[in-house]
Amino acid sequence: MMFTVAIDGPAAAGKGTISKAVAAHFGFDHLDTGLLYRAVGARVLDGADATEAALALSPEDLEASNLRSAEVAQMASQVAVISEVRAALVTFQREFARRPGGAVLDGRDIGTVICPAADLKFFVTARPEIRARRRYDELREKGEETSLDTVLADVKARDDRDMNRADAPLKPATDAVLIDTSDLSIEDAVDKVARLIRDQLPPSV
Ligand code: CDP
Repeated sequence: MMFTVAIDGPAAAGKGTISKAVAAHFGFDHLDTGLLYRAVGARVLDGADATEAALALSPEDLEASNLRSAEVAQMASQVAVISEVRAALVTFQREFARRPGGAVLDGRDIGTVICPAADLKFFVTARPEIRARRRYDELREKGEETSLDTVLADVKARDDRDMNRADAPLKPATDAVLIDTSDLSIEDAVDKVARLIRDQLPPSV
């Protein structure tokens, strides 16, 4: 069975948590596509050329321990503007989406560019202040020294860059289901998404 779920949305909206949970629930594979851009960003911070890094990306690059830092997030959104970088990552993502047994991909352009024919598309969002608070808590938990104001400014700068770039800008696919997690618990958000997936699955699954 092939079944592709696309989950897009702005920074720290809860895409990752929802994607991981529903993939585990249905036994689908999950790809956090942001990690690809973060890995390229991390290589650039180490002095590499962005396009060369994207073309040479290896599974080990996705294991680097600093990928979740705020510094890498900002560089990820800067390399994500470069069309050659995006092009270098397309085939891997499209092949992942066709894995037998089902796949969930989360990112910014999954429903619009990478998998326009996905079986189900979601656009997960939340108010910027709420997203910043969640990301601030995550970063603090990882030991990163920062302030809520800094995180809010970072999240807004990244959203702005992601929404306004020429190639594959962040926007909901016309057929995406909108999920606002501002006033939803993570359990409720996962439930909502899982129920909609369940309704679309072939009866045998
Ligand atoms: O976890 P968070 O939502 O903060 O970010 P992420 O999903 O790890 O993505 C980091 C950055 O990569 C984003 O700000 C985008 O600029 C870029 N990205 C993208 O352009 N396209 C994707 N499909 C995924 C991420």
